[in-house]
Amino acid sequence: MDESTGLVLGIESSCDETAAAVVRRGEEILSNVVASQDARHAPFGGVVPEIASRAHTEVITRIVESAIDRAGVEPKELSGIAVTNRPGLLGSLLVGLTAAKTLAWVWELPLVAVHHLEAHLYAARWSEGLECPFVGLVASGGHTSLYWCEDLLHVRRIGATTDDAAGEAFDKVAALLGLGYPGGPAIEKAARGAQDRALRFPRSRLKGRPWDFTFSGLKTAVLYHVRGVPPAGSPVIDPREFPAVAAAFQEAAVEMLVSAALDAARELGARSVTATGGVAANSRLREELSRGAERLGLRAALPARELCTDNAAIVAGRGYHELASGARDPLDTDANALPERAGYGAAPSGGELREGRRS
Ligand code: KG4
Ligand code: ZN
Repeated sequence: MDESTGLVLGIESSCDETAAAVVRRGEEILSNVVASQDARHAPFGGVVPEIASRAHTEVITRIVESAIDRAGVEPKELSGIAVTNRPGLLGSLLVGLTAAKTLAWVWELPLVAVHHLEAHLYAARWSEGLECPFVGLVASGGHTSLYWCEDLLHVRRIGATTDDAAGEAFDKVAALLGLGYPGGPAIEKAARGAQDRALRFPRSRLKGRPWDFTFSGLKTAVLYHVRGVPPAGSPVIDPREFPAVAAAFQEAAVEMLVSAALDAARELGARSVTATGGVAANSRLREELSRGAERLGLRAALPARELCTDNAAIVAGRGYHELASGARDPLDTDANALPERAGYGAAPSGGELREGRRS
C-alpha cells in the first residue's frame, strides 16, 4: 500500500448498522459515521435480515461520502479500503462488500476483507490500560466469544456461546418484559429502578468448558419466573416487579460473562482484559470487569461505548495493519455468514495456550 498517507477507509454492514470511517495508520480516527436501523427493527423485537439489507442499500453511498467528507480527505489520498466480509447476515454483508469492491476498483485502491469479531477486538487499541497479552470478550447481539490475544492483531478464539449470544438474551428478556428493542439499554434502564434486589437467577457454566457460555437456561428461568412454569402462559407476577427481574437477569448475565473472562485471564497469564461488542456498553459489565480485574492485579481496557457497538473505525483500524503487512483481497472476494477462514475458529488446546503464559 501507499504508506505515504496511511489513510484507510473502513466499511461495515454485517448486521443492522451501516458504517464508514477514515482512520490514519490504524490510530487516528478522522471520521466514524454510523447509521443505526434500530427504529426499523423495533416493531419486530429483533433484526429482520431482509429489512436490514434493504436499509443498508438505501444509505451506504451517503454514509461512505459522509465519512470521507468529515475526515476532510480526498479519495485519491486513501491508501486502501477495509471492509467486513464475515461473519454476519449474508445480505447485509454483501451491501458493504459490494460498495467496497466497487470503490476499490474505481479508485484503484487495495482492498482487504476483515473479520467482524477481530475488528471488534481492535477497539481495545483506543482504551486506557491495554497491556499484551490480553483476554478479549466480544459480546454482541449475534456473537459471544472469548479470545486469547497475543496483541491487537494476533487473536485466537478460546470460547464461545453454545446457544444464544449475550445481546440476544438481553433482547429476548426485554421483549418478554415489554421493554422494547434494542433490549440491552432498555434492561439496563429498567434495572436502575429495581426496589427488590433479592431476586436471583441461576448462573450457568458448562462443565469442563469454563470459557464457553450458555444463556438459554438463564433465559428460560426468567421466562418461567414471569409467566409461570408451562402450561401457564400469562404473567404470574405483577408488572411492577419487572424492574427487579431486569436487574436480576442483568446481574446473572454480567456475572457469567465477566467470570469467564477473568478466569481465562488469570489462568492463561494475561496482563489485561478487554470487553467489546454492544453488550460491553453495559455499565454493570464495565464496573464488574474493572473491579474483578483490579482484584487480580490486571488492567481492564474498556473502549468507549461508541467503539464497542458496531462501527467502521475498528474495521479501518485493523484493516490498516493487514494492508501494511501485505494482505490483499481480490475483487471477487465473497461474503461469508460464518467466521470461515482456513484454520480459523478451532479452539487451541490448553497445553498450547499455557505455553503463552506469563508469570
Ligand atoms: O455489537 P452490536 O452493536 O451489534 C451486533 O454485532 O450485534 O451489539 C448489539 C447488541 C444488542 O443485542 C443490544 O441489546 C446489546 O448489544 N446492547 C446491550 C447494551 N447496549 C447494547 N446489552 C446490554 N447492555 C447495554 N447497555
Ligand atoms: Zn458487532
